[in-house]
Amino acid sequence: MKTHIFSLVFLFFSLAQGLNPKCDIQDHGSNLRVFHIYGPCSPFKPSKPLSWEEDVLQMQAKDQARLQYLSSLVAKKSVVPIASGRQIIQSPTYIVRAKIGTPPQTMLMAMDNSNDAAWIPCSGCLGCSSTVFDNAKSTTFKTLDCQAAQCQQVPNPTCDGSACIFNMTYGGSTIAANLSQDTLTLAIDLVPSYTFGCLQKTTGNSVPPQGLLGLGRGPLSFLSQTQDLYQSTFSYCLPSFKSLNFSGSLRLGPVGQPLRIKFTPLLRNPRRPSLYFVNLIGIRVGRKIVDLPPSAIAFDPTTGAGTIIDSGTVFTRLVAPVYVAIRDEFRRRVNVANVTSLGGFDTCYTVPIVAPTMTFMFAGMNVTLPEENLLIHSTAGSITCLAMASAPDNVNSVLNVIANMQQQNHRVLFDVPNSRLGVARELCT
Ligand SMILES: *[C@@H]1O[C@H](CO)[C@@H](O)[C@H](O)[C@H]1NC(C)=O
Ligand SMILES: *[C@@H]1O[C@H](CO)[C@@H](O)[C@H](O)[C@H]1NC(C)=O
Ligand SMILES: *[C@@H]1O[C@H](CO)[C@@H](O)[C@H](O)[C@H]1NC(C)=O
Ligand SMILES: *[C@@H]1O[C@H](CO)[C@@H](O)[C@H](O)[C@H]1NC(C)=O
Ligand SMILES: *[C@@H]1O[C@H](CO)[C@@H](O)[C@H](O)[C@H]1NC(C)=O
Repeated sequence: MKTHIFSLVFLFFSLAQGLNPKCDIQDHGSNLRVFHIYGPCSPFKPSKPLSWEEDVLQMQAKDQARLQYLSSLVAKKSVVPIASGRQIIQSPTYIVRAKIGTPPQTMLMAMDNSNDAAWIPCSGCLGCSSTVFDNAKSTTFKTLDCQAAQCQQVPNPTCDGSACIFNMTYGGSTIAANLSQDTLTLAIDLVPSYTFGCLQKTTGNSVPPQGLLGLGRGPLSFLSQTQDLYQSTFSYCLPSFKSLNFSGSLRLGPVGQPLRIKFTPLLRNPRRPSLYFVNLIGIRVGRKIVDLPPSAIAFDPTTGAGTIIDSGTVFTRLVAPVYVAIRDEFRRRVNVANVTSLGGFDTCYTVPIVAPTMTFMFAGMNVTLPEENLLIHSTAGSITCLAMASAPDNVNSVLNVIANMQQQNHRVLFDVPNSRLGVARELCT
């Protein structure tokens, strides 16, 4: 009873201060809370709130850049030319709280399941934001030299004196980092001598301000470095951006993963080894299985084509023939003559609609998406759009990307040792 009263007092106190009491809850077990970058617990929300339309258009622009970036992630081609003169801003949508060093310093790192890298802005970094890891204050920090085996696994390594330095691109940014090690603390788990890039210089504005936690599966990735602790298994539940006060969770390791969950085989595409591919075999709109050209959804290890599950793209992008086919069926079902567009969305309505469900049919697993994963509504309720689009034409794209809006309020389990991906409905709170 006492604790209840205390909690209530605390709650009122926090509300009175305009703080969200949920932001202070500490992570426990091997669970990290996942915040939306525009949520109240994030320091990265825009200082001036954008209108709903501006918000949507900005997310679409970022997606466009992200798709370009994902398509560029081809094996042995880790440095990609930066597109045109225009700045592309592309930064993952969700953040988690990680601690680095001894004593631990807290960083809100971006979570990106399509990237292998982990890097953190370090003190003295040129072009980084003001929150940096002060490596001089950590008793366990060390830099790796050129002879270290790990120095062979980073892109474009060079020696500066004996220090191992590497450069890479991320979205529209370039980064230069010292290969370093320190203790990483996630919830209550300690990862000693965790190898990461200590950022010394960045350009462009795609770099997540407090670092990147890549959950891809390449050689120096977080998954390979925490193999003993987490056995290359994790799941996340991404909170909806319609309820920004909610947080989701990133659950690391095989313990505590859902038992009631459907699985589809997780595929590895040697052309794009960091990405999590699945076999999409069809799409149902309402009860109708839409006729799709098989080549447009086929998994192809030689071209790198196929369907990926990505946490960093906001709206699902399908290659043009697939998108057009499902969109046409969706419009036929909605059966409202006046279809308008909004930015990159071409199927919007200004009157209330009754939308069909959509089922993504993967090998061995059907995932039926309810309305909340399919439609976005303007705050004023005056416009509703199908929240998917065709892959941009300027990208010679062969990737179908199942994006985070379509994954929100689902638990998505990446079980790498058993090569399977699970999906179950779950309200992320
Ligand atoms: C989120 O929480 C804040 C503070 O607790 C509250 O003022 C706000 O109304 C909440 N927003 C929503 C959409 O629930
Ligand atoms: C990174 O390496 C450079 C070149 O060796 C060195 O001058 C710098 O102090 C290093 N920074 C950190 C944080 O270790
Ligand atoms: C890496 O970036 C640094 C800093 O921008 C630059 O001085 C260096 O020449 C680059 N090295 C390579 C191999 O591109
Ligand atoms: C169709 O929608 C547009 C945009 O909202 C509107 O200006 C137009 O009047 C509508 N036309 C009909 C026939 O309802
Ligand atoms: C998925 O749905 C299709 C069409 O409704 C059905 O034929 C198939 O058996 C379902 N697959 C699974 C794994 O439930």
